[in-house]
Amino acid sequence: MEAERENVGVVGVGWVGLVTATCFAELGHRIFALDVNEEKVESLRRGEVTIHEPGLAELLKKNAERITFTTSMDEVLDSARLLFCCVDTPPTYSGDADLSRVRSVVEQLPEDSEHALVMKSTVPSGTGASIRRDKPDLHYVSCPEFLKEGSAIQDFMHPDRVVVGADAGSEDAADAVEALYAPLGGEIVRTDVASAEMIKLASNAFLATKISFINEIANVCEQTGADVTEVARGMGLDERIGASFLKAGIGYGGSCFPKDVSALKQLAGNSGYHFQLLNAVIEVNELQKRRVIAKLQKHLGSLVDKRIALLGLAFKPDTDDMREASSLVLSARLQGEGARVVAYDPVAEDSASTMLPGVEMAESAVVALEGADAIVTLMNRDGRQQTVRP
Ligand SMILES: NC(=O)c1ccc[n+]([C@@H]2O[C@H](COP(=O)([O-])OP(=O)(O)OC[C@H]3O[C@@H](n4cnc5c(N)ncnc54)[C@H](O)[C@@H]3O)[C@@H](O)[C@H]2O)c1
Repeated sequence: MEAERENVGVVGVGWVGLVTATCFAELGHRIFALDVNEEKVESLRRGEVTIHEPGLAELLKKNAERITFTTSMDEVLDSARLLFCCVDTPPTYSGDADLSRVRSVVEQLPEDSEHALVMKSTVPSGTGASIRRDKPDLHYVSCPEFLKEGSAIQDFMHPDRVVVGADAGSEDAADAVEALYAPLGGEIVRTDVASAEMIKLASNAFLATKISFINEIANVCEQTGADVTEVARGMGLDERIGASFLKAGIGYGGSCFPKDVSALKQLAGNSGYHFQLLNAVIEVNELQKRRVIAKLQKHLGSLVDKRIALLGLAFKPDTDDMREASSLVLSARLQGEGARVVAYDPVAEDSASTMLPGVEMAESAVVALEGADAIVTLMNRDGRQQTVRP
């Protein structure tokens, strides 16, 4: 089915926003993409992609004529009815989601019913209701994003499902969002706003739970002589369990899982419910990074002046995103034990070099390994893997 061409506004052109803008342009729509970061907007106007995401630079170039990058909200409001909000929602010190950027977008929207805000940023359940209490005439749709960095274009263009949450009064806007996604073929889950918001947080929390679960199984396997890779293979063939997210390793990181698990835990706590399981998921994940130190000490004794090579620094393959990467904690802990840390990542070397103080960045994996007492591989092509080779 050929979708009607729309003018679409995208607010915040980071990972989610830039992929959303580019993919909607690929579908033939005219995009007005806004960011507060003037430097980023300038780079994008020159056709320079600000993040590493496979296929993105090529697709952006192909559709450049259909995308206007701007710092002017007025330009976006004058041009588009649907505004996809893709700003970041980082954690606060308390672990709640920081909604200040979302609020600043909402504040700039007029009190009319001509525009609809489509929330792609991950926000706690209840956010949409609170926005609509402040701006009752604003049409509001929750359309959480499920793309994965490293395969974001593929995920956006071939979604498993598209969640479209709307409450009374915003049905037309929800229909328009559905129409935009219709050509992509994923199952549309039409629901209310609060449930749509919760689907996103619950999905990430569930995947994080799977990771912490298999990591605990791995830790038991190390004591009992079982091979966790075999165990995961045998478990994953059960269709009730599924094979994905059963790769034991150093734990989850990145810009989403840690903050979203914590945001759900805080959301539960703020509403009077103690989400016990998530406490364990978070604790297992924290301890998993530190277990590497004990493993190295088991083989090398004291780590003082030992040269440890870290291979793979971003939180997963095919991205340069270093947010909450396990390498941040691990390199700091290793240096705390007196080790000399040398590291290599073919994709994330620029971002990593500024974020890993004291770490020597090698120009190749071979150089990193020269003279190393141990190698810690933080990832491989199949996902996150952590092996220690003394
Ligand atoms: N990165 C992912 O893999 C992923 C996947 C699914 C969902 N999400 C969610 O999507 C949201 C965005 O994530 P991201 O990784 O793209 O973030 P990001 O940090 O890469 O990008 C956010 C962008 O928003 C811009 N911005 C901030 N305030 C703004 C404002 N008031 N007006 C205009 N622009 C503004 C920033 O300058 C930045 O360019 C988050 O809520 C995140 O949890 C992310």
